[in-house]
Amino acid sequence: TLPERLLSIEDYRRAARRRLPAMVWNYIDGGADDLVTLRDNRSAFDRWSLVPGVLKGIEDHDTAATVAGIPLALPVLLAPTGASGMAHWRTDLLAAAVAERMGTRYVVSTASSWSLEEIAEAAREAHLFQLYPRAGTVTSSLMRRAWSAGYRTMMVTVDVPVKGSREGERRTGMRGNGLPPILTPRTALNFARHPRWTYDVVRHQRFGGYNFVEQTGIAAAVESLHIQERELMQSTLNWDDVAWMRDQWKGALYLKGILNPEDAEQAVRLGFDGVVVSNHGGRQLDFAPASLDALPDVAAAVGGKAEVLLDGGVRRGSDVVKALALGASAVMIGRPYLYGVAVSGAAGVRHVLEILREEIVRTLTLMGVASVGDLDRSSVTPRHHEFK
Ligand code: FNR
Repeated sequence: TLPERLLSIEDYRRAARRRLPAMVWNYIDGGADDLVTLRDNRSAFDRWSLVPGVLKGIEDHDTAATVAGIPLALPVLLAPTGASGMAHWRTDLLAAAVAERMGTRYVVSTASSWSLEEIAEAAREAHLFQLYPRAGTVTSSLMRRAWSAGYRTMMVTVDVPVKGSREGERRTGMRGNGLPPILTPRTALNFARHPRWTYDVVRHQRFGGYNFVEQTGIAAAVESLHIQERELMQSTLNWDDVAWMRDQWKGALYLKGILNPEDAEQAVRLGFDGVVVSNHGGRQLDFAPASLDALPDVAAAVGGKAEVLLDGGVRRGSDVVKALALGASAVMIGRPYLYGVAVSGAAGVRHVLEILREEIVRTLTLMGVASVGDLDRSSVTPRHHEFK
């Protein structure tokens, strides 16, 4: 049973902060450089009001959505997060199982802490696979593995030509996704102050995807390929490379990390099934626009010819409603389920999704809207009107 004081995602955030060592907390919650995009992702939602209608006589409120032809009970996917095993040693497995039970899906990161095959086995339904693209054999081998493990929808993340600089985590001893932490008296003391977390790490011999007994890692998904995290990403990648992926992958294919309408148009021309409007949760290019700010123009450029998803800063049911009103067909959450799993494992992930579902239903009810499918541009209005 969960403490009743955990009412909102923000409550989970505060609880997770207490639970996790500084290094892990900064890795999860931090952002690039001056955190401007990180903060804008949140404040962008504050710039919109919801437009209510009364006396609509609606009994049931429907939260069903479809992503890549997959029917979802909730328009909220769990975003791919690398080295999520740092929040809880079994994050990937728990997130996959809980997402399925709640009628949604987990997007498995290339830098996951468990292998994509192990995660596939944790649920009956096929989840989605996120690919950090490279030219050549590593990528084609990963794509083959993902396909044979049952993944049919893939997201190619294109906003990491180089890793963003997150000073908070670097200052507190984080080396890179799943790599061994930098142990100093200070970080060791900080671990000691978080005994429950530290006990789990020692007992299971895993720090994120890094097994410090066998000295293997990083990400289990790429472990067998013996590549390092910095090699996961490539600044030389171009549209021909992703066109090649489109050609090879027979399932649904999305580009994740699109903010520019011209890039969205190009993705549609190349036959992608969708784009994810995202700035990687403010972890890559600082001063990139907030996801919600970029959404309307991207949605207009796509013009219904592909699906549009959004992630970044979604913390309330009303945030989901606003994103859907402005052109997304579903959203993804990253940090919120990491807070949940850090605080109380599978129950925490489930509760985070339940909180969002309840908030979405309550928001729809108060707005007088029957279904998330009925949301459109007329459901929202800019909040700051100039005084006339
Ligand atoms: C991420 N994100 C991410 N994205 C991706 O495509 N591959 C990855 O391996 C990761 N890793 C990762 C780790 C952590 C700790 C975080 C917080 C995020 C980005 C993620 O998929 C998503 O775009 C953002 O997390 C969405 O923003 P919010 O919901 O965290 O505000």
